[in-house]
Amino acid sequence: MAAEGEQAKITILVGTMTGTAEMVAQEVEQVLRDAGCDVALCMMNDCGPEVFEPGRVFLVCTSTYGFGNLPDNALDLFEALESSRPDLSAIRYGVIALGDGTYGDTFAQGGIRFDKLLAELGAKRAGEVLVHDANANTLPEEVAAQWARDWVRNDLGPAAGTDTQRGS
Ligand SMILES: Cc1cc2nc3c(=O)[nH]c(=O)nc-3n(C[C@H](O)[C@H](O)[C@H](O)COP(=O)(O)O)c2cc1C
Repeated sequence: MAAEGEQAKITILVGTMTGTAEMVAQEVEQVLRDAGCDVALCMMNDCGPEVFEPGRVFLVCTSTYGFGNLPDNALDLFEALESSRPDLSAIRYGVIALGDGTYGDTFAQGGIRFDKLLAELGAKRAGEVLVHDANANTLPEEVAAQWARDWVRNDLGPAAGTDTQRGS
């Protein structure tokens, strides 16, 4: 958790095939900035396991493809973490898992697989995984923006941002 008076440093990691997760991540980035956090957004294909700097908070925002698989741009990072198995006990993370409920058993498994892997590597999850169903008649960016307001306020702790009351 950020020390008293210190902004949370958050990196949003984006896994996407057709841009929905990126749009969601941009909306969430703005919410977190408005809450006073120091936020960086990184497409997963642009980073390796070394991105997981101790002390930062990571927000994985990814869709699901194939049969419960990750989008192409997330595969290298996921596989590198699986094989190098770094100790991530000094990081906290959240997950936004996008999917489509009509895919049944593989629904939102991209984000869920990331959640399991990060937990196995010792990272501590802050809050519940946000699962969005593309078939649910709700806009993922709106659902995610509301989730992020709650996440920063309730799960990252009172020192997460410098202005956590805005928008309440
Ligand atoms: C070819 C294809 C395969 C998909 N497979 C799954 C799946 O196995 N499970 C799931 O929950 N959603 C699946 N989806 C739905 C996407 O994850 C969902 O539409 C998501 O919002 C797309 O986000 P993106 O634009 O960031 O990639 C699939 C979509 C397509 C087009």
